[in-house]
Amino acid sequence: MGRDTDSAERLRVVALISGRGSNLQALIDACRGDYPASVIAVVSNRADAAGLERARKAGIRSAVLDNRNYPRRAQFDNALAELIDSYRPGLVVLTGFMRILTETFVNHYDGRLMNIHPSLLPAFPGLDTHRQALNSGATEHGATVHFVKPSLDAGPIIIQGRVQVEPGDDESSLANRVLQEEHRIYPQAVRWFAEKRLTLNGNHVCLDDKPVNEVTPRDG
Ligand code: GRF
Repeated sequence: MGRDTDSAERLRVVALISGRGSNLQALIDACRGDYPASVIAVVSNRADAAGLERARKAGIRSAVLDNRNYPRRAQFDNALAELIDSYRPGLVVLTGFMRILTETFVNHYDGRLMNIHPSLLPAFPGLDTHRQALNSGATEHGATVHFVKPSLDAGPIIIQGRVQVEPGDDESSLANRVLQEEHRIYPQAVRWFAEKRLTLNGNHVCLDDKPVNEVTPRDG
């Protein structure tokens, strides 16, 4: 049994949440099938995160580490890393974790830390991405799964899911359509990682040795 796999040789995944946890749920659902990864722990920085209930229902252990108990960002991130490492993960996924992470933390998990962002990066980093997309007049929008690097919402792209912006869309209708794509692409990215099909070349990701931008979004 490898260090980063469970007894069934599935990749051990730790998910970090702050809220609703619908992307966590998509991963939990994927893990129910024939899937090479398993969410083995969920960590929230908020005790009231709805995603904790999803973990409980799925029988996944969870922990709350409240950042308000740590006066300095580095102290919280150190405690967080210590907790995560106690689960011996092969991959850490940010599933709606609303904290900026220190460079030390990000570097500690270099190449095994993923995030999902609700835009087609590099377009619309930061918050309120659906509003940004609507205000810009974009005709296409979507979501991005990427490896995390110290700069915010940057980092090598693994997969993107695209949606058309429809006439009459508001933030809520657009967010709902993007969220459906999020729930498709995050489990796909984790699957590829678990299958060891992803490689990082500098700031670029290859899938099966080909740059990912040559991969059609629905390629399995
Ligand atoms: C998602 O839109 C994700 O892209 C962003 O935060 C939101 C989290 O939603 N990073 P959920 O908690 O997974 O439902």
